[in-house]
Amino acid sequence: MKKMGEKQERVVVRGLRDVAAAETKISYVNSNGTLYYLGYDIDDLVERVCYEEVAHLLLYNRLPNKKELDEFRFQLISEMKLPEQVIKRIKRAPKDCHPMEVLRTEVSHLSEYDTHTNDNSDAANKKRALELVAKVPTIVAALHRTRTNQQLVTPSQEYGFAENFLYLYRGKPANNQEKEAIDRFMTLHADHGFNASTFAARVTASTNSDMYSAITSAIGTLKGPLHGGACEKVMLMLDDINTEEEVEEYIQGMLDDQKKIMGFGHRVYKAEDPRTKHLRSIAENLCHHTDTLNLYKTCIKIENVVHDKKKIFPNVDFYAAVVLNTLGVSKEFFTPFFASSRISGWTAHVIEQYQDAVLLRPSSEYIGEFGRPFVPIEKR
Ligand code: SDX
Repeated sequence: MKKMGEKQERVVVRGLRDVAAAETKISYVNSNGTLYYLGYDIDDLVERVCYEEVAHLLLYNRLPNKKELDEFRFQLISEMKLPEQVIKRIKRAPKDCHPMEVLRTEVSHLSEYDTHTNDNSDAANKKRALELVAKVPTIVAALHRTRTNQQLVTPSQEYGFAENFLYLYRGKPANNQEKEAIDRFMTLHADHGFNASTFAARVTASTNSDMYSAITSAIGTLKGPLHGGACEKVMLMLDDINTEEEVEEYIQGMLDDQKKIMGFGHRVYKAEDPRTKHLRSIAENLCHHTDTLNLYKTCIKIENVVHDKKKIFPNVDFYAAVVLNTLGVSKEFFTPFFASSRISGWTAHVIEQYQDAVLLRPSSEYIGEFGRPFVPIEKR
């Protein structure tokens, strides 16, 4: 029996690095730079499926046939509508708070309109998941339209889901390059193992708390600049670097100041993030069509300089920032766009956690004191 104060036989793994907290069938992330969604290599999916097929795969464990895809797309687009009270609260949100704060708040607000919150059955949660997959992008788009004093736009059954999201945000139809770009952006951001925000959602779900609470936990976690918040910081960095010639000095300056280069490095990948090559190609294509190839060339220069100095690679956030910027998305909405895709992965993991039915509660190594003598307040 261990005495108080004696070290217990426990290994503290700082940051839970390489610790497997649970088993999952949803996605596989390997340090060698491979990513699978339910058995499909991301490289086999990206240029051959639409985002709706990926969301269907994540939620129902299989790719839909044509009839199922049409029905699923129709349901998603039909569910893009928001309760009037949520729209009112979006319109009343303070103009200077970050869009992720409004998204976190309004997802939580949505739960007040769920008339079956006591029903935690698989069927009820699958329905909730579909509604959240549809409504999270709508909240993001509605907030942007409100902040820029533009009319809200209603989705069209003529467009795909990702295309509708960009249409609700911008208020104008997407051209073919843009349609392809936003759909692939959503496909590439949909799920990614036990990343911090997914793990946060699973911890919340592991207490049998509701799906809205779990997704609220995830949104709050994604917001951090070490996670999904990095893409906005990437754009701030790119805004600071005006030409390729400035890259070397700028990056060295960041490293000299012990700063992390946003959009680079990864907890798991020690080779290039498999999503990067796709996002790099999408960024190049968009920059070519919008005559902003100088931005793309600066990114290539940054990649080479950071790799030369730190032997690390760009992660999903680096070129995602260029893709969103070129699509006309404001940088403070980059992470909400990330969340608008990851909501499909988050909800899938929440449902898997309910099925796993175990409380996620790690231990800890207490390194504080014991036996401090109590002194009553009048004598302190
Ligand atoms: C996402 O987990 C996921 O799957 C997340 C995600 C997803 O799809 O859900 O992939 C999305 O969040 C991508 C990551 C976005 N974050 C950033 O771009 C922020 C910048 N990146 C770093 O803060 C860092 O790379 C992390 C947080 C992503 C990972 O950090 P780790 O695993 O804790 O690695 P570390 O900080 O211990 O770094 C190891 C070494 C260190 O060098 P030494 O001190 O040992 O010499 O690599 C260096 C670090 O200094 N390093 C960096 C760096 N990333 C790592 N140096 C400069 N800039 C960086 N970005």
